[in-house]
Amino acid sequence: MAGNVPVTQSLDDIYPQDALDIQRKRWSKLLSSFKDAYGRPAEFVSRSPGRVNLIGEHIDYSLYEVIPMAVTADVLLAVAVSPANGTPTVRIANVQSDKFATRSFTLAQDGGVDIDAKSHEWTNYFKSGLRGATELLKKHAVKGIGQLNIDILADGTVPAGGGLSSSAAFVCASALAVMRAHGQETVDKKELVELAVVSERAVGVNSGGMDQAASVFSQRGSALYVGFQPELSARTIEFPQTHTPLTFVIAQSFVAADKHVTAPVCYNLRVVECTLAARVLASICGLKDLPDDSSPLGFSLRSFHDSYFKKKGAVGDDVKDFRSQLDQLVHIVDNYLPQEEGYTRQQISDLIGTSVDELEKRYMTKFPVRADTFKLRQRAMHVFGEAVRVLKFMDLLQSPTPSNEQESEELLKGLGGLLNDTQESCRDVYECSCPELDELCKLARSAGAYGSRLTGAGWGGCSVHLVPQAKVEAVKKAWEEKYYKKHFPDMDAEKLQDAIVVSKPGSGSTLFQVAGRESL
Ligand code: ATP
Ligand code: GLA
Ligand code: MG
Repeated sequence: MAGNVPVTQSLDDIYPQDALDIQRKRWSKLLSSFKDAYGRPAEFVSRSPGRVNLIGEHIDYSLYEVIPMAVTADVLLAVAVSPANGTPTVRIANVQSDKFATRSFTLAQDGGVDIDAKSHEWTNYFKSGLRGATELLKKHAVKGIGQLNIDILADGTVPAGGGLSSSAAFVCASALAVMRAHGQETVDKKELVELAVVSERAVGVNSGGMDQAASVFSQRGSALYVGFQPELSARTIEFPQTHTPLTFVIAQSFVAADKHVTAPVCYNLRVVECTLAARVLASICGLKDLPDDSSPLGFSLRSFHDSYFKKKGAVGDDVKDFRSQLDQLVHIVDNYLPQEEGYTRQQISDLIGTSVDELEKRYMTKFPVRADTFKLRQRAMHVFGEAVRVLKFMDLLQSPTPSNEQESEELLKGLGGLLNDTQESCRDVYECSCPELDELCKLARSAGAYGSRLTGAGWGGCSVHLVPQAKVEAVKKAWEEKYYKKHFPDMDAEKLQDAIVVSKPGSGSTLFQVAGRESL
């Protein structure tokens, strides 16, 4: 998946045929609004999509593999640049100006910018992309940093807080825009992902790397297998040919999951719980002086995993061995982390041989959390179990093409069963679902889905369902009648249409050159 972000002058390279008409209109409107707002044409558009995660939920920050794919919905940033003959200034507006107010801010001489993670401010997502890109530009010794005025108009169609990673789409598009604004027409995909993963954390959510990888690396028509250890890697996965084509349907719960607001008791807390579970397990198993890894808090369950088996003399990374290692780890958790009720700060400090003060300073200061107990047992159980499900899912996707309808049906049921198991684990063990997501899953299964689960961070947001094509309409109808009309009786037809998307895997980040084009 190595290589540069594609540069194009054609929307055909970005969108599937059936989306082109709508996209042409949208892009034309964006470019003409840009001219109206800033009195000059946009030079380029930087574009990055949202993603749906098929399987591997809440395990990317423990550095286990995940299988997401990009969706068609995306963030577009139309941009024009000019030399700053004074203080470099960024002006940024949004086509949804009622929701996202126009802002302008100045840059420090070294191109730096302040980000107040305490305020929930949309332009923080741009600033974090800008900050990451500036670091990369410096690394490449690019000239002209902190000497530009940049005008931007944003247009995002990924529902914000809807579990399809509008945030990563925004940060990746922003970082890409800043690179291009500084004359970088060739942007290395891996470098872009790495900078976006780290820089998105500046908004206050200590997230993993799945979303940015999916947004940048994805290719139309394929899902993506993303790994984080020993380093970031991604490869495309073709879907098998089944008698009824694999159809993934995405359904919004319309329960807004604002990760920034709930982070101290939801997302960031889970990151702390997983990290502390790894620390405690390492300590119990006598693993000392382990180096930091690339996970958000510097030590992950995956690093514990690798060090544990290395100490035991395991060699090679054969998939069969890996799966059996994960099964063994489930037993270790069962034996050594028995407390269902969770662990207090004092208990954890005693187990890893540190003070409560040190523990808080090291793991709970930069991204504060609010909790008296930490459910190490349940979180580790979910992570190891989910990592096994990803391997099984991958095996099924790569199994030989089914030769008849029955084999095909078995394959689809196998994939669906894994999605259902993930949902159960997210609901009961990781506690990141909510009643509305559970309800959407239950309704879909009763109407014929092979498998259903939440996707993304959870606690609201989106769900994903593997549905036989012949049953898509029945599933939609069940949701409309028994979920949307029940919970949102005033919902208009347009919103209802947006609620459910039959998703085809979309393409990743792209730079679009506007200059010199007569029409789209
Ligand atoms: P998840 O991370 O669960 O997949 P998500 O990425 O959509 O879902 P958040 O990580 O909470 O949810 O990010 C949502 C935030 O991203 C919004 O509150 C907003 O600040 C910013 N954002 C997303 N889309 C846009 C947009 N079109 N215009 C401006 N800001 C946006
Ligand atoms: C959010 C984060 C990702 C990942 C998912 C859960 O989308 O941004 O890094 O952790 O939640 O799988
Ligand atoms: Mg997000």
